[in-house]
Amino acid sequence: MKDWVEDLDRLAELLALAGYMGKKACRRSRELVKEVRYDIAAFRQRDPAAKSDLEVLLLYSGLHARTAHRLSHALYQNGHTFAARAVSQGAKMLTGIEIHPGATIGRGLVIDHGSGVVIGETAEIGNNCTLYQGVTLGGTGKDEGKRHPTLGNNVMVGAGAKILGPMTIGDNAKIAAGAVVLDEIPADSTAVGIPAKVVRLAGERVANDLDQIHIPDPVNQELNALREALTALSAKVTKLEKAGKPAPRKKSAPKTKKN
Ligand SMILES: CC(C)(COP(=O)(O)OP(=O)(O)OC[C@H]1O[C@@H](n2cnc3c(N)ncnc32)[C@H](O)[C@@H]1OP(=O)(O)O)[C@@H](O)C(=O)NCCC(=O)NCCS
Repeated sequence: MKDWVEDLDRLAELLALAGYMGKKACRRSRELVKEVRYDIAAFRQRDPAAKSDLEVLLLYSGLHARTAHRLSHALYQNGHTFAARAVSQGAKMLTGIEIHPGATIGRGLVIDHGSGVVIGETAEIGNNCTLYQGVTLGGTGKDEGKRHPTLGNNVMVGAGAKILGPMTIGDNAKIAAGAVVLDEIPADSTAVGIPAKVVRLAGERVANDLDQIHIPDPVNQELNALREALTALSAKVTKLEKAGKPAPRKKSAPKTKKN
């Protein structure tokens, strides 16, 4: 891998020297190679199933979608919005991953498995983040302008999780598979559930009412309330009964004969 990347680097340099490529284009292509190489290393590091750099380069749809986004984003930034969209839709057809050309993405993004991932126009993703299949970084439909989430660095978003709205997900946060995030999530935390709640903060468990097993039984609660009402009622009846009855006569002491 190292060899052919260096070969590509050298080829770009030679093309520039021979006048087939401008110096700027040469610098850009070298930068691109460097960034793609960094992304490949990220996949190797975070996906134990990835067996070689070449396998990631040729067969990982997450890498293909991200690389296509580099092109579409450059076009978008230069005002070629139609061409940018065409590139992103082409990439979506090939990979099943839709990244809007306007999204801002840092280095080392790993989109594992890929299918069904949607990243909105104003989404921002920091460095070294990981997204699994079915993740949506979307809007709620209520906001204008910045309407998609911002992910810090080293954020992991589990399969099928939805992060909706222009909130921030702090550095090193983990969003559990299947969660729906509607609020800010602090750094170094784990958020789970719908709507997502923080269950771990800096490695410590956070007290939350997330117990889905020991939930109160409404029938039992109703029975207890009835039982209490019955006890109160019978106490009242006993009191009333006592009040209505004539007081029992006191037995007079036996008369003693006077001498
Ligand atoms: C959330 C996750 C990252 C674990 O993070 P963690 O900080 O190590 O948290 P823990 O495993 O200690 O779990 C914390 C609590 O959240 C619960 N939890 C974990 N994942 C959950 C989920 N997806 N949904 C609901 N609750 C979840 C745990 O049961 C635990 O509850 P408890 O404290 O009552 O025992 C992990 O469970 C997860 O969802 N990873 C996504 C991986 C993925 O999408 N893989 C796809 C591969 S194809």
